[in-house]
Parts: sequence; C-alpha cells; structure tokens
Amino acid sequence: MAPSSSIAFGISLLQLMLLLGNVALGAQASVHYYDFVLRETNITRNCTSWRLLLVNDSFPGPTIEVHKGDLVFVNVHNQGDYGVTIHWHGVKQPRNPWSDGPEYITQCPIPPGTNFMYEVNFTTEEGTLWWHAHSEWTRATVHGAIVILPKEGTTHPFPKPDGEEIIMLGSWYSEGDDLNDDLAESLDEGTAMPESIGYMINGEFGDFVACSQDSTYHMYVEYGKTYLLRIINAVVGAELFFAIADHNLTVVGMDAAYTRPLVSPYLTTSPGSTLDVIFTANQTPGRYYMATRRYTSQDTDVTDFNHVIATAILEYSGNYSLDTSPKFPNRSLPGYYDYSAADTFTFKLRGLASKEHPSDVPLNITRRMFITLSMNEILCPHHDCTVAPTTVGSSLNNQSWDDPSTDVLQAYYKNISGVYTADFPDFPPFVYNWTGVDNPDAWGVANKVTRVKILEYNESVEVVFQDTGIMQGAQRHPMHMHGYAFYVVGHGLGNFDNETDPLEYNLLDPPLVNTFSVPRDGWIAIRFVANNPGVWFWHCHIDKHMSWGMDTVFIVKDGGTEETSMRGPPSYMPPCEDSYDITRKKSRRLPRQISRI
Ligand code: C2O
Ligand code: CU
Repeated sequence: MAPSSSIAFGISLLQLMLLLGNVALGAQASVHYYDFVLRETNITRNCTSWRLLLVNDSFPGPTIEVHKGDLVFVNVHNQGDYGVTIHWHGVKQPRNPWSDGPEYITQCPIPPGTNFMYEVNFTTEEGTLWWHAHSEWTRATVHGAIVILPKEGTTHPFPKPDGEEIIMLGSWYSEGDDLNDDLAESLDEGTAMPESIGYMINGEFGDFVACSQDSTYHMYVEYGKTYLLRIINAVVGAELFFAIADHNLTVVGMDAAYTRPLVSPYLTTSPGSTLDVIFTANQTPGRYYMATRRYTSQDTDVTDFNHVIATAILEYSGNYSLDTSPKFPNRSLPGYYDYSAADTFTFKLRGLASKEHPSDVPLNITRRMFITLSMNEILCPHHDCTVAPTTVGSSLNNQSWDDPSTDVLQAYYKNISGVYTADFPDFPPFVYNWTGVDNPDAWGVANKVTRVKILEYNESVEVVFQDTGIMQGAQRHPMHMHGYAFYVVGHGLGNFDNETDPLEYNLLDPPLVNTFSVPRDGWIAIRFVANNPGVWFWHCHIDKHMSWGMDTVFIVKDGGTEETSMRGPPSYMPPCEDSYDITRKKSRRLPRQISRI
C-alpha cells in the first residue's frame, strides 16, 4: 500500500522538485511517488502455473492511496516484452492529457526496457477509482485500486465505518500472456474474441473453482459493526451482479462522487465503474458468501460465456461451527439474463446533491449530439480488401474507430496532418428505427475511420447515447469518458424521443460518473461542460467492443488564457516510431526468448 520506496528506482529530491515546478498545489495537498515495475511474473491459479505481466509482482496490482487534492507521480518501468501504457481511470487530469494514458490517443506505448513518468493530479475526485493498462487487453492483469480519502479535517457524508476493504472484481483468461496475440488474430481474421474462464474477487476465484478453496478471499467482521466496501469492476468484458448472502448493501458513492444512499440486496456493476457500498454485520454470526456472477444483456440464445460464480467469504468473529458451508445469496443474486434486475438497480442511482456535495448540472445546452451504438460488419478492415473483405466490428454513429500510429494528442499539438480528421458526426448518418427487430443487416456496414469531435472550450454538451439492435447486437454498453465526469440526466428503454423524454430529465440530483451503461435497446442522456482542454478518449468499457471500434475522441479546444489551456508536453514522451505494439507491429515485439531468460 505504501509508496514502493523499496524498489530500486530512485528519484532524487531535485528531480521531484523539477517535476513540481510545473504544478500549483493546494494548501493541504501532499505529493506521493510510486514506482510501478511491469514484468512477467509466475503466478498459480486454478491448478496451473502462468507467466503474466504484473505490476510489482502483484495481482491485483498495488493500491494508490491519497487524499482529495493530492498529487502523485508514478514512474512506470516497462520490463515486459511489448509496449504498454497506464490510464488513471476517472482522474480528470485537468489540462494534462499527456498523462492520461490511452495508447495512440494521448501517447505511444512505453517501449520495453524504458520508463515513463505519469503525473496523476487529483482535484475533485473523492472515493474510489482505479488504474489499468490501456494497451489492448493488457489490463486483464495490469490494474489496481485508487483510494481517495476526504481531505484531512473533513469526512465522508455518512457515519464513519468501522472498517473498509477493497473488492476488486477481475477476470482470467486461459490465453495467459498470449491474450493479446489471440486478440490480434481474432481482429485480423474476424474469429471469436477470447472469453474469460473465470471471474475473481481480489485476485481469487473462490470456493467453486478447483485448487482455489485454500486461497478464497476472506473478509473478517465483528457483529454490529459497519463496513465500507470499495467495489471496482476491473473485468475485461462483462457486467456483473454482486451480492452478500443475507446482507443488504447501501450504495453511497460511485466513480469517486457521492450518491444518495441506495439500499439494495444486490448490485449491478459495469466494467470501469466503482461502487462505494456500506453494510452492517447484523446477521447471526457465521459465514456468508460474497458472490459475483456475470450479467449478460445479449439475447438469451447467446450462451457461450463464462458462467463461473466467483466467491469470497464474509466471516464473523465469535464461536460457531465452521463445518457448515457458508450461506450463498440464493435469493438476492440475480440470474445471468436478468435484464430488469440490471436496469432497476442502475436507474435508481442518484447523486447526493447536498450542501457540501452540490449537484451542478449544466442547464443551457449549447451543443447537442445523438450517438448510436451498434454492432457492425466492417468493410475492408485492413484498408486492403484482399486480406479479409469484411470482419465484425462496432461503432459510434456508424464510425468504427481505427487507432492511428501517431497518437492523436501529439498530432493535435504539433499540427501533424493525416493522423485524424475532425468530422465525427453529431448525429447518425441516416435515421432508422434504432431498436427495431427487422432492420436489414446491410445498415450495419461501417468503415474504419479516425474521426474526432472538436468542442469549443466551455461548451455545455448533451449527448444522447442510443443502443441499436442492428445485426441482432442489442445489449448494454458501459460508455466511459476520459478527462471528465458527466451527469446522467435521463435514461429509458426503446427509442429516444427528443420531445417527450427531455421533459422527464433529472436535473436536480443525477448521478455524476465517468462510466455508465446504456441499457439494452434503450438510451441515456448525459451532460457536461467542456472545461478541460485536451484530447479525451470516449469508449465502451467492454474491451471487445472497444477493440472492435466503439470509440471516439473529443478534442476540447483551449479557452484563451493559460488557466484554460492545455499544458505543454513533458520533456519526454515515448516515441511513436519505436513502439512495440503487439497487435499491429508484431515483428516489433522483443523476441520472447530474450525476455524469458
Ligand atoms: Cu478504464 Cu479508457 O478506460
Ligand atoms: Cu459495448
């Protein structure tokens, strides 16, 4: 948990002061420094030994713990065999997209054998966030929690819990460290994407998986006490239901912003989201399973997914028989296809909107966008129809994102042409019955493009995201925006109606989040003020959809003064020419033998 000063990569006081020269810190803020060493590490799970890329040899990776307003430097040392970047999910990084992390959006990958210093600037966030690799699917094993405590002298807007724990939900792939190679093959050839073989709680499968019972995660509690869980969905490709047998859960925060307390017997959580949840250990002392199972919003005839339930054990102190097995949340944990349980939970979320944590929803919208989310057939995916004439893909407004080979941020900053075009459309190219069941598949044909949306500084933006059923692809999409938190002012099933639906918007206490699921065959309306200049990625946080192209970039222009303008780049950014991109420049990957010795 502590900054890993024992690792042999020092930084001198002088270097730190030079870094700090750039930044004005608030009065109470402190500065933390971490070293993240990425290297292939042996790890045993499910009766098998794996060699996987981990940070500081740990899975999940190290926790960053700060107070609101603190500043963190993380020196990322890549000792793996391909290029990687790290993203600080949910940290707004004001004016500083240079440290945001998504590869080919704000930087090129950190080449093996080199390091890159990220500056992670905490401002308004308070609660739980996380960090993860933002290179292909490397985040499966390269991720960790970020805990943001209230400023010294202030407290949570709820009674202080007697204890707290991080609950990191993860996924495991049988491909091991070949995951990205298999992903590349599937993207190339249009074959099935890798599927996880198990979900995990704090790095463990739990009692229902072979060779796992001895290491099932335990949380020890005392009768009558109250606990805070910081639940992070770090799963690569699935939403989950989560419940603790016989214990009600109260959501008090989401994505490092407080929520109106929401009591529920179960949670629905999307990849990318965090939920801060309190519960009281008020049941008969004993052992209770915490359990998580996949929620799929796809058609019920899609059954080829990981059905394994991951468990941890909530264990009361005291005298009782350990012979009986822990109680399972039979009644509270919803089933795999329980669309209505998922939407019911999600739609109940509200912001706290208190005096100390007020809501500040933009009311005078100056920029409206309507963005459809679809599954697609991609024409000539490799710009050469001879390789594969079509593959599977996904898109926003029928634009299927294509990563450039120079990052968008650098191209924007240096005015390099030919990297992206500024013509991402505000509306879909043509109109149809989005949620209709018999739209012709031909309407789902899309091209690979690198089209970004340019926003003026301080525009008040409303985006309606509409799921579509094109190509039988209706399903929920957890949409995530970098650089911002946004208010979810409306949601509904069916097609968005721009006359009647806005009348129902919640402009008083909508949730303030960085990731939110668009319901299957439904829509959400979100609002934010474009007051963070820079280059910010927007994508579905189900990595399969992200890799298929359900992504775009918002460039927010400078506002005319230094305080309203993007900062300049740090003295070193990883070079694009030498990037070791595992999926696109396979030959550039270091020969495996070298890294394996
Ligand atoms: Cu959690 Cu673009 O990422
Ligand atoms: Cu999606």
